[in-house]
Amino acid sequence: MTEPQAPHSPRTFQSLLITGGAGFIGSHVIRRLLRTQPQTRIVNLDALTYAGNLANLADVEAHDHYTFVKGDIQDADLLTALFAEHAFDGVIHLAAESHVDRSITNPLAFLETNILGTATLLNVAKQSWTERGCMDEALFYHVSTDEVYGSLGQEGLFSETTPYDPRSPYSASKASSDHVVRAYHHTYGMPIVISNCSNNYGSHQFPEKLIPLMIRNIVDERPLPVYGEGINVRDWLWVEDHASAIEVILTQGWVGDTYNIGGLNEWRNIDLVHKLIELVDARLNRPEGTSKALITFVKDRAGHDLRYAIDASHLEERLGWKPSVTFDEGLANTVDWYLQNQAWMDEVTSGDYQQYYAQHYANRG
Ligand code: NAD
Ligand code: TYD
Repeated sequence: MTEPQAPHSPRTFQSLLITGGAGFIGSHVIRRLLRTQPQTRIVNLDALTYAGNLANLADVEAHDHYTFVKGDIQDADLLTALFAEHAFDGVIHLAAESHVDRSITNPLAFLETNILGTATLLNVAKQSWTERGCMDEALFYHVSTDEVYGSLGQEGLFSETTPYDPRSPYSASKASSDHVVRAYHHTYGMPIVISNCSNNYGSHQFPEKLIPLMIRNIVDERPLPVYGEGINVRDWLWVEDHASAIEVILTQGWVGDTYNIGGLNEWRNIDLVHKLIELVDARLNRPEGTSKALITFVKDRAGHDLRYAIDASHLEERLGWKPSVTFDEGLANTVDWYLQNQAWMDEVTSGDYQQYYAQHYANRG
């Protein structure tokens, strides 16, 4: 095994490929890097699946250093043409199928995009950087999840040395893609970094995920579907803090290294739903506790992981990163954003999602 190597000085990039930039986290990463890395031109490659939405980047679409390309990471010809045209010296790879529930009903889409798509992208990057003789100066950054480590009991935290134990088709596909990325590093000397982050929350998150789904349903006075008994625990991180960690790792991460990212912020689902009810009811001037009656315990998710929690001390010690906001601050900002952006919510939920929602929750009884 090659030991991780520190860069000589913080990296800068001339031309970055960001995949999945029209999604939740990618849109925050692009907005941040356009602001903080003025020398970098960014190409956002996104297939615009149900989860991708150009409205997430409406405020930067005219930026001189930003280009959007609609396309699939499994399309090797398109990727080869893009590498030739833009001479990328870095890749931040976020494109993925990302929702555990959908991976249970349609696993193959996850294996195709998350494993084959990642392998296709790696292969084209390797060819391009080898031909251009710039492999040593380039960087392939794979954005991954803590779910690759499996599920914790009541105690303990995931660290970078926790053995992989993925248990859903989503986490198995992300674990697999992490392995392929490491294989390209060890076999071909491709400079890579990987980060494994806990659950994100914040603006522009597709409302199939817990927090925006609950906010939307509280506003609309619809049932709040809590899986099982609501005792599963997640460690929540504000998406803008994830974006800041990604920037630190992109510019200073040690080649070949892995960084866990998390907020030391564990919540049982049911407690989090109560907190959201409190916040949203207060902002809508409803009497305290009004929406508690909407809580509906529904059939549990198959193979539902009990608890995720991250030890992010390696990232803090090696690169000095820490989250910038408390959960109260981040959640208040998030609730306000959804309440002020009802048009965004209506737009992203207008298509196939309505059918998905009706079917998914009808099946849970
Ligand atoms: P998302 O579902 O909001 O966005 C994914 C984006 O990828 C969408 O814009 C979609 O159109 C695009 N995409 C999907 N398939 C594609 C394909 N074949 N080709 C090109 N583009 C494609 O997801 P997210 O929550 O923003 O997550 C981004 C990344 O971060 C994922 O790799 C995910 O595994 C990882 N991650 C997410 C979280 C989280 O809490 N959301 C936590 C840790 C890691
Ligand atoms: P989710 O946002 O889908 O993220 P992940 O599965 O990647 O952690 O779900 C977060 C937690 O909330 C998870 O324990 C499942 C639970 N959950 C519900 O109880 N009800 C819901 O309607 C959804 C979507 C999730």
